[in-house]
Amino acid sequence: MTYTRIIGTGSYLPERIMTNAELEALVDTSDTWIRERTGIAERRVVAENQTCSDMAIEAARAALDSAGVAAADIDLIVLGTCTPDRVFPSNACLVQRALGVQQGAPAFDVAAACSSFVFALDVTDRFLRTGGARRALVIGADTMTRLLNWRDRGTCVLFGDGAGAVVVEASDTPGILSTHLHADGTQEDLLNVPWGPGLGYERLDETSGKISMRGNEVFKVAVRTLGRIVDETLAANGLKKEDVDWLVPHQANVRIIQATARKLGLPMDRVVQTVQHHGNTSSASIPLALDAAVRDGRIKPGDLLLLEAFGGGFTWGSALVRF
Ligand code: UT7
Repeated sequence: MTYTRIIGTGSYLPERIMTNAELEALVDTSDTWIRERTGIAERRVVAENQTCSDMAIEAARAALDSAGVAAADIDLIVLGTCTPDRVFPSNACLVQRALGVQQGAPAFDVAAACSSFVFALDVTDRFLRTGGARRALVIGADTMTRLLNWRDRGTCVLFGDGAGAVVVEASDTPGILSTHLHADGTQEDLLNVPWGPGLGYERLDETSGKISMRGNEVFKVAVRTLGRIVDETLAANGLKKEDVDWLVPHQANVRIIQATARKLGLPMDRVVQTVQHHGNTSSASIPLALDAAVRDGRIKPGDLLLLEAFGGGFTWGSALVRF
């Protein structure tokens, strides 16, 4: 039996910190409201000349360093994002070129909004388990601030930029135990970016390329859905709630994270929470949280991790991982 094992993690956050106080100057909001309703204290914003692939490259370098693996030994790159630098080439191809990963190794992006990293991990796991690749980079990276309408207080206080990555390797010993992916396009109107190049350039206005969200409705669906996927993941592995060592959730809102932890009966000190430092970084949020908890020594080899995400589409997914 071949498994996919995570052998290195890395992440990158842009230098520029934007505080809640700065947002008070842009929209009718307050530091207190943002902290109480979301848990967010600050977020990072890319520099003017910085792109999503620039962040992805930094996170991938850090993951390769931590794994002790050379870029030349990577034979697959799967990158989750909803903010690629360009329509094509994919950001994965830009990472391949920048790092000097083998020419000819497959590299592609996966788009499932905030669930993209879990989707990318699932796809990669299937490659490795079936012998299609031996050692891969799985990356989540997004420049969500480029999709923000800085006059919409319902969204501009929530998101930030960042990237995270893992190096995975085919192994005889268990790593990823199961992955679970889902989508439901019927409620796409609750959370979307209403424009893409496929719609043409004729009717563009200042909100066309910006996130549109009915936050409270999304919130309720997210809490319900994540509760369900936790049950699905444990049942598929014949495990009980108390077997999980760490919940590594998508970092959108501290109240959504707390609701999922309650469902698992996990105390908050077994939940990796980084949303306060960088807001919702979409595809980057799970690998950012994972990297933080691995580097500070909370997550140790052998721990059982439950990764879960929910995002636009709607899309949602989970992965149960023996670290
Ligand atoms: O990554 C996955 C996708 N996204 C998410 O998971 C986000 C899901 N949604 C949320 O996190 C929450 O719904 C929000 C943080 C967006 C909003 O929190 P809420 O508790 O659901 O608030 P609400 O939308 O019900 O709004 C409550 C009040 C409203 O005012 P009234 O109608 O009660 O007078 C809003 O207009 O809060 C107001 N409000 C704000 N006030 C100050 C909304 N945004 C802000 C703001 N500052 N930034």
